[in-house]
Amino acid sequence: MRRPCTFALPGALFLSFVLGGQAAVTVSVGADQPGARINPAMWGVFFEDINFGGDGGLYPELVKNRSFEFTQPMMGWKKIEKNGASGSWSVETDGPLNDQNPHFLRAQLERAGEGFALENEGFRGMGVKEGGVYDFSVFARAGGEGAVSLEARVLAPDGKALGTARLEGFTPAWRKHSVPVRIGATEPRARLAVALAGRGRLDLDMISLFPRDTYKGRPGGLRADLVQMLADLKPGFVRFPGGCIVEGFSLPLRYQWKTTIGPVEQRRLIVNRWNSEFKHRPAPDYFQSFGLGFFEYFQMCEDIGAEPLPILNCGMACQFNSGELAPLDQLEPYIQDALDLVEFANGPANSLWGLRRAALGHPAPFHMKLLGVGNEQWGPQYLERYERFAKALKARHPQVQLISSAGPDPDGDKFDFLWPKLRALGADLVDEHYYRPPAWFLDNTARYDRYDRNGPKVFAGEYAAQSVRTVSPDNRNNWECALAEAAMLTGFERNADVVRMASYAPLFAHEDAWQWRPDLIWCDNLRVYGTPNYYVQQLFSVNRGDVALPVSVQGAPQAPNRQPRFYASAARDDRAGEFVVKVVNATDAPVVASIEFRGGKGLKSPGVATVLAGASLKDENTFDQPRRVAPQTGALGVSGSKFDYAFRPCSLTVLRLGVAR
Ligand code: AHR
Repeated sequence: MRRPCTFALPGALFLSFVLGGQAAVTVSVGADQPGARINPAMWGVFFEDINFGGDGGLYPELVKNRSFEFTQPMMGWKKIEKNGASGSWSVETDGPLNDQNPHFLRAQLERAGEGFALENEGFRGMGVKEGGVYDFSVFARAGGEGAVSLEARVLAPDGKALGTARLEGFTPAWRKHSVPVRIGATEPRARLAVALAGRGRLDLDMISLFPRDTYKGRPGGLRADLVQMLADLKPGFVRFPGGCIVEGFSLPLRYQWKTTIGPVEQRRLIVNRWNSEFKHRPAPDYFQSFGLGFFEYFQMCEDIGAEPLPILNCGMACQFNSGELAPLDQLEPYIQDALDLVEFANGPANSLWGLRRAALGHPAPFHMKLLGVGNEQWGPQYLERYERFAKALKARHPQVQLISSAGPDPDGDKFDFLWPKLRALGADLVDEHYYRPPAWFLDNTARYDRYDRNGPKVFAGEYAAQSVRTVSPDNRNNWECALAEAAMLTGFERNADVVRMASYAPLFAHEDAWQWRPDLIWCDNLRVYGTPNYYVQQLFSVNRGDVALPVSVQGAPQAPNRQPRFYASAARDDRAGEFVVKVVNATDAPVVASIEFRGGKGLKSPGVATVLAGASLKDENTFDQPRRVAPQTGALGVSGSKFDYAFRPCSLTVLRLGVAR
């Protein structure tokens, strides 16, 4: 049975408001007063390889440290020598596969006895599915006398083989060998054993177990269920690759897009900056293989119909870490990387970088229109660098809109310093970040009502309500936070002329390997679910509308600080021929409101009402109850241009109403 919302909340964010069934609140929509055109790419997603969202998540390689390039080259691997086995394993560097991948594993086998093998633990285990086919592959080189054969075994935790396959015929030159493994039973925590037989020397590198079942079946592609979650959001854009990962702890560890394209064995691995960032959530086995690199990213954007929005390093390492700066007279390679990325994405197939794209299988351009210069940067050092990037990029690619940073906070010294300067520089879009308590979101829904209509536009590039405080491991993806975000999003939509794009952050978290919460989508090795925050994003995105309509709320219940706790936005969806009204009731009682459409030709019945609400503000979705807080849709009888509607306590409601002809 559903219980009413409970409000034992610190600071009493939500208030009791009982209207006894009378419409004391009026939501008035200017049906014949079209406002700003809403950016078709308004609601997007922010991807960063944090929380094992890339390696171990969206990039479904099952072998961890496949290239033996982790700082401890045997991390993730275990040597097995059973009765009678004799031989050795060693990490070597003589004659490697290539310069970017200098280490490999050498096996010197005398006698296999009852077992001479190497086991990989995967990313907190390996998720495999009954009937699924997984490609085992390895680069191998035989040496000296004798011959060695190899068996790949996918093992359940009890050691039972779930699937096996054999490889032999290794040559003295490095060569890639692969063989499919069919899995007999579903297992979320499998491991891989590579067992050798015979006698002799065998060099091994890039040991891989990769699902055939990827999104769109692309070999070496992305985890299908996770991309589907993104596709279901119908995102307008995908911000990539972050996030602080763009900046790196130091400049040598920054994200460099050119090292992320081409054959995976040539992509240089680096330590993930979230590996040791949080002492309370250490992840010593977190590295970036770049298996999900810039080509896969552009392709995914195309697959799901989203605009690419890359963010590039601007010559500044993370200012929360080393804050290392590329001197201004040495900025040229950074700027060149940005120019080359535009060419890689958009250049003709006969241009230098367009040719690289074509060689990777995509002769047509990706039509990139947006590019971020730096992530969460601040200070005069940022402006100096941004200006140089903007000058070079605008000269060569004036059609590409640039995103500039407003720093890590939505207010304060750094923010106040940057905004006027960026306005004076004529910046296109300024990236604002807010990781704040739910009450901040509720109190700031009118933030953009006051923004200069003629200045730079806003990209709300990272935001999420924090139930405890930023970076607290106790933050929850509960309904309280999601509802507060929904209220804020009505403010974005009402100000669609200023706020052109928005993305929740971070996107993914692995249940057994996260560093930061809250996050939009949670997964483990086999399962995935959307949080209440996910469904808020989805409702705004799939009900975007084309043109914002003016909306005013009279008689809105207020919090003791006199801020409203009832919010609305409205739009017209031209293709559907419908009005779309979004209402957030952040009180713990039903609110009966009169919805009035001023001007226009009236409404067609029936309309559709979609309601998202938790039974309690503390409600969360889980693997076992993935849709505890999920949208519910019903028909709505209306006539004329005015009707009453009872908004559920603590709810987001989306009303779609046909426009009468
Ligand atoms: O979303 C997590 C982190 O928060 C991002 O990497 C960074 O940009 C912000 O500080």
